Amino acid sequence: MSVWFLLLLCTVWPPAWSFRICAFNAQHFGDKKVASDDILDVVVKIVRRCDICLLQEVHDPKGVVVSKLVAALNRPDDAFLAVSSPSLGRKSYTEQYVFIYRSFRIRVRDQYKYEDDDPSAPDVFAREPYVIRFALESSAMQDLVIIPQHTEPEKASTELEALYDVFMDVRRRWNCKNIILMGDFNAGCKYLSKKKTKSLRLHTDPEIRWLISDSTDTTVKESTSCPYDRILVYGQKLTNLVESAGIYNFTKELDLSEAEALKVSDHYPVEMELDLILDGCRTLLPSLTLLILSFLATYHLV
Ligand SMILES: *[C@@H]1O[C@H](CO)[C@@H](O)[C@H](O)[C@H]1NC(C)=O
Repeated sequence: MSVWFLLLLCTVWPPAWSFRICAFNAQHFGDKKVASDDILDVVVKIVRRCDICLLQEVHDPKGVVVSKLVAALNRPDDAFLAVSSPSLGRKSYTEQYVFIYRSFRIRVRDQYKYEDDDPSAPDVFAREPYVIRFALESSAMQDLVIIPQHTEPEKASTELEALYDVFMDVRRRWNCKNIILMGDFNAGCKYLSKKKTKSLRLHTDPEIRWLISDSTDTTVKESTSCPYDRILVYGQKLTNLVESAGIYNFTKELDLSEAEALKVSDHYPVEMELDLILDGCRTLLPSLTLLILSFLATYHLV
C-alpha cells in the first residue's frame, strides 16, 4: 500500500525546489578577506543562501581562497563545489569569476571562455565572460547557461553592447533555451545612463527580461544609489519560472553597521528565485525498491 501511495504522491505532488541564483561582486576577494573570520562568516552566509552563486573580483591564482571558502561552506548535509575562471585582465591587474554551487543536484556540463577576438572589434572585454552550462536535477528545467560579466566601469556601455554577441555565440554553440546574463554590469549612475541602457541590444531584444530595475540600489554605501548589478533572463520557460528577484541587503539582514558591511563589499548581491520541481520519484527510487522488497519478504514471495 505505502509503496503505491508514495509513488502516487511524488507523481501527483512532486517536491518543490526553491532555487536561488545569485551574483555578488565580493570586491577584491582574496587572501586578506578569507583570512578574516568576520568577513568569511558573512560571505558564507551570503553564498549559502544560493544554489548557484557567481562571485566576481576574486583574486585567487593559487586556488587557496576558493578552497577555504568552500571548506567553510561544506557541511555533512550540504555540499558545495566551485568552478573558477582563469585570471582575466589586460595587464597585471586580474580577476576571476567563480561559480559556487550545491553539488547535490547540480552538475557542470560544459564551460568556456569567450574568445573576444572578433576581427571588427577585438579585445572588447577587460574580463571575458567565462560561460558555464549547468545540468539541474529538475524536470522543470534541466539545462541552464550562465554568462557572467563584470564590466570595466568606464567601458560599461561598449562591453554590454558586446555582451549581446556573447549571448549569440552561446546560443549558436549550445542550442540552450535557458540563459542568464548577470553580474556587476556597472549599469547605472555615471557609467551608464538610462537612455543608453534602453538602446542596448540586450534591452531592445524583446525575449530578454531585465529582472533588476533601474531604480534598484545595489550599492552598500548609504550615500550612493546605483543599479550596478543586474540579472537578465532569456527563454520563455526560464522567465516563467522566476518567482522573485532583488538585492540581498546583508547590512540589514545580518544586523551590521555600514562600516562592517563595507568591509565585506561595496556591492549587495543580486538574487533571483526560481520555482522548480525536484525529480522526486527518482530520489525516492532506492527507498521504493527497499519497500517493495520488504513487502515481498513479508508475504514470503522471495
Ligand atoms: C540596507 O539596509 C540598511 C540597514 O537597514 C539600510 O539603511 C539601507 O538603506 C539598505 N540599503 C538598501 C539598498 O536597501
